[in-house]
Amino acid sequence: MCGIFGYVGTERDASDAVIEGLRRLDYRGYDSWGVAVLNRHGIEVEKHVGIVTKEPLKIRGNIGIGHTRWATHGAVTENNAHPHYAADKSFVLAHNGIVENATELKAVLEKKGHKFHTQTDTETIVRLVEEKQKRHKKLADAVRAAFKDLTGRNTIIVLAKDGEVIAARNGSPLVFGSKNDELYFSSDVLSFAPHVSSVMVMENGQMVSKNGQRLQVMDIAKGTKVTPKFEKNAIVGGEVNKGDYDHYMLKEIREAPFVVRQLLKEPDTNYRALAAAIKKAKNVYTIGSGTAGAAAAQIAFYLRVYGEIKATALIGAEASDYYSLIGKGDLLIAPSQSGETADVLEVLELAKKRGAMIASHVNMPGSMMTRMSDFKFMAQAGPEICVMSTKIFTSQIAWGYLVAKTVGGKLQDGKRNLSALATAMNRYLKDEIVLKTLKEIAGRMAKKEDLYILGKGQNQQIIKEGMVKIIEGSYIHAHGIPAGDLKHYAITLMEEGTPVIAVVSNDTLKNDVLNAIHEVKARGAKVVGIAPENAEQFIDWLKVPDTKETSAIMNVIPLQLLAYYMALARGNNIDKPRNIAKSVTVK
Ligand code: G6P
Repeated sequence: MCGIFGYVGTERDASDAVIEGLRRLDYRGYDSWGVAVLNRHGIEVEKHVGIVTKEPLKIRGNIGIGHTRWATHGAVTENNAHPHYAADKSFVLAHNGIVENATELKAVLEKKGHKFHTQTDTETIVRLVEEKQKRHKKLADAVRAAFKDLTGRNTIIVLAKDGEVIAARNGSPLVFGSKNDELYFSSDVLSFAPHVSSVMVMENGQMVSKNGQRLQVMDIAKGTKVTPKFEKNAIVGGEVNKGDYDHYMLKEIREAPFVVRQLLKEPDTNYRALAAAIKKAKNVYTIGSGTAGAAAAQIAFYLRVYGEIKATALIGAEASDYYSLIGKGDLLIAPSQSGETADVLEVLELAKKRGAMIASHVNMPGSMMTRMSDFKFMAQAGPEICVMSTKIFTSQIAWGYLVAKTVGGKLQDGKRNLSALATAMNRYLKDEIVLKTLKEIAGRMAKKEDLYILGKGQNQQIIKEGMVKIIEGSYIHAHGIPAGDLKHYAITLMEEGTPVIAVVSNDTLKNDVLNAIHEVKARGAKVVGIAPENAEQFIDWLKVPDTKETSAIMNVIPLQLLAYYMALARGNNIDKPRNIAKSVTVK
């Protein structure tokens, strides 16, 4: 949620550097943005509602900070966009997070005479810093004192009129990149990767101040200095572009075979080490949010089926009832694109404190989840730019399948199956007739207001994820129904013409799903089947290759493509759907 970027250097104009960085961070929020630069006039700020501009700004300078916003407190307006000025314009501040005690702090500050001009919780930090400046002469000391009074997960960046840039982290990520005399600040490493030779990830509870040549890292609580530890920038190909595609979403769906093959490059020893820990663990939990929550549930499914492990799937924001049950000897497995999702991190931090072990599968380098994990797997899938997650979901569940097969003593068999899956996916994704048919069906479905997706067993999380993609991309109400549960409630909704997508694998549950389809068809529903074999109940058949054990992973692709073409038919902003953000670093 929200992206922060900063640049200090003489090589580039700061507003150009910051705008480029913000454009790469806008997956974190894109309702409004702002840039502040320092020049001979003092600190100049430009703010706008909407997506970050491609045009150069009029304001220029050698030092600058910027912010792209996903509104939490206060409407989407220019006035609420960051950075926010101090009353005397001696500094500006941008923020990522939620100040949980903002109401209390504001009441105290107002009593002391501070005036508020925005609806944001961020402004509370600005006024608090001003209040602290009454006792602390140095701005960095005032920022530190103010930061200590905040509750919640917050990260801030401050630009002062003497050229000092200060950043403090407690939650949302903040990383640095440097090359010669240039220093970049950002919410992720990919945003500046092509420009830097070394990177550093700031730890929670740390503060950095950069003034001229001086770079100081400090422990906020203790007030002691910390030696900055830069590492060589190992990110290759941080470049982000759509290539020949109109949208990142389609490009990324089509990268599925690549992301599956990337998993096969991971040394066997890493899969074996995790499998051994899973077998030894007292309890095994999988955890994620949103799409990663569906992936976590699918991973748990695979662990039960192929690993004979009693794995329990948790949703990040809904795990509090497990807090007192998680402890030493347990293992938590977290798939996460960003590795920074706040509600998942909260559970992992608690679990770690209580002595549990953590395994993660993450795509974004340098993330908090990777850093806190005992078993660290990287998806190595390349940047996923579309806010709707597609290729990473595929990577997460394929990884979970392989981990489960390893637990079951069949790593090599699992690898062979994934390799065959990648080949089948590749052929499928290149088949022009397949794409044409999907587009036609999606065009029809895009005219509906409601649709239903049926599936069972290995496809249960897949239909849920299909539902999520359709809702996110086309804003059409979709509803995933476990095929067996249909007759218990959702059958009341079936009537003449109701659109239903049924996902039917060639497995032992196939007949149960076909029976459910009979029941909806009898009530007039029009069923499109995603299946290796045709059935008389389908009005349209979307044929998929039968990849046996990995059939569920294969079925994800037509669902993602349907969601893509539906969003396209509706004329929506496909890569940036309304109201959502890719990385949710606030609770
Ligand atoms: C947001 C995104 C989802 C994503 C979820 C978890 O809600 O919109 O696409 O699945 O966060 O993100 P993570 O980075 O942990 O995979």
